[in-house]
Amino acid sequence: MADKLRALAVRALPAAVTERLTRDYDARLNPDDRTMSPEEIATAAEGCFAVICVATDTFGREVIDKLPDSVKIIATFSVGYEHVDLTAAKKRGIVVTNTPDVLTDATADIAMLCLLGAARRAWEAETMLRQGRWTGWTTTQLVGVHVTGKRLGIFGMGRIGRAVAQRGRGFGMEIHYTNRSRLPAELEHGAEFHDTPEELLRHSDFLSINAPSTADTYHFLNAERIALLPDSAVVVNTARGTLVDDEALIAALKSGKLAAAGLDVFEGEPKVDPRYFDLPNAFLLPHIGSATVETRNAMGFICLDNLDAVAAGRPAPNALT
Ligand code: DGY
Repeated sequence: MADKLRALAVRALPAAVTERLTRDYDARLNPDDRTMSPEEIATAAEGCFAVICVATDTFGREVIDKLPDSVKIIATFSVGYEHVDLTAAKKRGIVVTNTPDVLTDATADIAMLCLLGAARRAWEAETMLRQGRWTGWTTTQLVGVHVTGKRLGIFGMGRIGRAVAQRGRGFGMEIHYTNRSRLPAELEHGAEFHDTPEELLRHSDFLSINAPSTADTYHFLNAERIALLPDSAVVVNTARGTLVDDEALIAALKSGKLAAAGLDVFEGEPKVDPRYFDLPNAFLLPHIGSATVETRNAMGFICLDNLDAVAAGRPAPNALT
């Protein structure tokens, strides 16, 4: 029997994914899920044809240039790929793949959790209960922002944005969006397109950020743009922390310009600007958009499908380079 090809997973993987990886490849694993330095990755990748990484592993030029020549594919266990330098990989002849589609629903669900959690003050309510401070129902207690009939503005109407729109419609919301290009009518489902982010913001009682992290979207939501939102709007971010200027968002949450924010992602995560922790109107989650068993397994299996294709000399189905 031919020797198995060697593959490195720089982070721990779900059990079912690890099982298939070790069944089909000579796998180098990181069961402790320790963050590896570029030097450690380069050493561990010796003789490997594949490297599997995740969204929080930075695979910039300095890491990619150190990889041994044996590496033919970097499969990121994520739909986002801003952490991988595609140009550097391409230069080295390394295919980079991601995991689109399978996390759309799970991430859109978390966007709704953030939207509802922020609008209905879920953190404050649960904390009051758990801390034994609930003295009984009152007409004015924990009154939040009504969702039904409100305008949900979506910045970035890709797969996840459209799944958020579908959920928003289910909650009786009116959908507005902006996108690089207008969607065909059959994908719009009656949503109102705005040519510019600025126009979208003026029409968003709720704003859901669903665009990728790029140089163009860096700090998209800054003080000037927050000022365009209606007073008492709610902001939801399940895309990437880099799209939000934390300084501006925190100021708007403190001043009451915004009623609340629901955030699943943070710039510089896992470090989070500690000022968010003092804000009762911030509903915060630790980047769990794709965290369901089904989704995480599916993401891992897509990584492995891509490894299998490259190992067999076929084009990788999710090649980005
Ligand atoms: C992704 O896949 O890009 C997500 O952010 C990880 O859940």
